[in-house]
Amino acid sequence: MTNSRIIIRAHELSKELPLGKYTVHALRGVNMEIYAGEMVGIIGPSGSGKSTLLGLIGGLDTPTHGTIEIDGTDISRMNEDSLTEIRNEKIGFIFQFFNLIPTLTALENVALPIQFARKPQFKPEKRAKELLDMLGLKDRMRHRPSELSGGQQQRVAIARALANNPPLLLADEPTGNLDSESGAMVMEALRNIRQQSGTTVVIVTHDSKIAERTDRTLTLVDGTLVNGTIPDPVYAAH
Ligand SMILES: Nc1ncnc2c1ncn2[C@@H]1O[C@H](COP(=O)(O)OP(=O)(O)O)[C@@H](O)[C@H]1O
Ligand SMILES: [Mg+2]
Repeated sequence: MTNSRIIIRAHELSKELPLGKYTVHALRGVNMEIYAGEMVGIIGPSGSGKSTLLGLIGGLDTPTHGTIEIDGTDISRMNEDSLTEIRNEKIGFIFQFFNLIPTLTALENVALPIQFARKPQFKPEKRAKELLDMLGLKDRMRHRPSELSGGQQQRVAIARALANNPPLLLADEPTGNLDSESGAMVMEALRNIRQQSGTTVVIVTHDSKIAERTDRTLTLVDGTLVNGTIPDPVYAAH
């Protein structure tokens, strides 16, 4: 499913954050490319800029300097409305603490983003059932988050992120709140999704075991990428 189309390109990407009378240099001129269909890990110590980078890729934030392109569109200087549109159409987010709506069932949580889509491609309930089934949660669809384990909740969150079939899935420490067995299941689910639908997956993690399960890792140290910024040529051949 991997091809040589570049879906993410960062050029001299920098983010400065004011902190009292100081400035924090969260990212310092990051250059990288990610091909459509790749599964990439972003690793590095706490405070190295991983979440900042993922937030810029996902249009949750805008850079101080440099550019970030998603699927050929420069989103660096977009206004909030345009960024919202890009996020809704192109990006699925997965977070460490799942962020499910506690009063809704698994099925309702997954159906919700389809009901809110401007141009829905799917029937909400049918699509939600298919996704939950694919993630091994067929018999948990009517459960609320509090009635599910952490690993099951994260798989519901993955189904929700996939609801509108985005080309890009971004996950910030998706296994950070899970035991290693549930974490492995979540990684397996992400690999299957990439295999089946060609979704590009970018995973931020500080866990080297999780990073080993990706195709390629980018290492951030103090806001700078220190390796692997160019895709492996093997992907260009597919
Ligand atoms: N809102 C903020 N205001 C000031 N500094 C911040 C803010 N968010 C993050 N930082 C700082 O930016 C740097 C990178 O943070 P972050 O991207 O969250 O790192 P990571 O996800 O790798 O732990 C850290 O030094 C952090 O303290
Ligand atoms: Mg972080």
